[in-house]
Amino acid sequence: MAIQIGDKSFNLLIGSDEIHKRVVEMSRQIVLDYKDQTPILLCLLNGSYMFAADLSRQLDIPLEISFIKISSYAGMQSTGQVNTILGLQGDISGRDILVVEDIIDTGTTVHELLKELKTKQPASIKLATLLAKPDALKYDMHIDYTGFDIADKFVVGYGMDYNELGRNLPGIYVLAE
Ligand code: IMP
Ligand code: MG
Repeated sequence: MAIQIGDKSFNLLIGSDEIHKRVVEMSRQIVLDYKDQTPILLCLLNGSYMFAADLSRQLDIPLEISFIKISSYAGMQSTGQVNTILGLQGDISGRDILVVEDIIDTGTTVHELLKELKTKQPASIKLATLLAKPDALKYDMHIDYTGFDIADKFVVGYGMDYNELGRNLPGIYVLAE
């Protein structure tokens, strides 16, 4: 069944139960990998807020959570430019950083962020994303934890927006053809 968001219609792509199952699986791997560390989850606002909340409550290890706001998207297009809106607070040198992202599309946002983070000498940086669009990726980057690889199509829901609408949807919806 199609839903309407603003002037566009979208179809369900990944339901909330399926998302939940995958988030639990991802969290198991992350717990194993970080069992001897106290990572900082560095979550990218606004899109990753729902994934960050669901993932973090599954992670039964000591951790810190921090949010930064970066934006490279306008409407349905990646602008190819990254604007830091809310910068990093506090010292991350020597810390283990897990970047938490909603979706990696061209990879520009994360590429620029990783470049900046590396200058602050963290002990390690890993990358967790709920969604990735391998066909849209423009950089050679290693993603440590991916929820779902999806086709190069515009999606909304579970934190992701179409002109700021649709973030509160519990499932993920894809633009109807
Ligand atoms: P990138 O810099 O091209 O990788 O784009 C990453 C950012 O653009 C993500 O953090 C999202 O906020 C946004 N984005 C990318 N693809 C989509 C999409 O299909 N729907 C909604 N937002 C998206
Ligand atoms: Mg985002």
